Amino acid sequence: MKLVIGNDHAAVEMKREIKEYLEKKGYEIIDVGTNSTESFHYPIAGYRVAKMVASHEADGGIAICGTGVGISLACNKVKGIRACCCSEPYSAEMSKRHNNANIICFGARVIGIETAKQIVDAWLNAKFEGGRHETRVNMIMEIEETQKLQAADETK
Ligand code: RB5
Repeated sequence: MKLVIGNDHAAVEMKREIKEYLEKKGYEIIDVGTNSTESFHYPIAGYRVAKMVASHEADGGIAICGTGVGISLACNKVKGIRACCCSEPYSAEMSKRHNNANIICFGARVIGIETAKQIVDAWLNAKFEGGRHETRVNMIMEIEETQKLQAADETK
């Protein structure tokens, strides 16, 4: 399984540790983040991660900035991306099971490395449940595609 990882200057060390952790488990990791602690604009890293996931060059993405918030916002601007910012493993697991998140995000200034590993594991090990959750994910994609949601008009 091939994963893409990206980060800004706030998350260089956490990116390095997560990358090493996943490589030891046998994942192929493409690193599109910065390795410098010089200021680096998080939308660049988020965009790079998101483009590789949206184009299926990677099977999933991990995006880390100071809070995880800015980089998740940037990722979610790319069509086809569902990036979720999580600070604990339960939400990370559910982001795959119910929301089919294809990018997981977190903040290097918010959580520690052990929680970050748990979040990544929870997201990677979970499976999308489909069914009613697929209906809802498709509704999100409908908003993205058309800037409208037909079902919302029907329930006015
Ligand atoms: C950088 O200082 C910081 O703003 C960034 O890492 C992130 O937290 C943005 O959401």
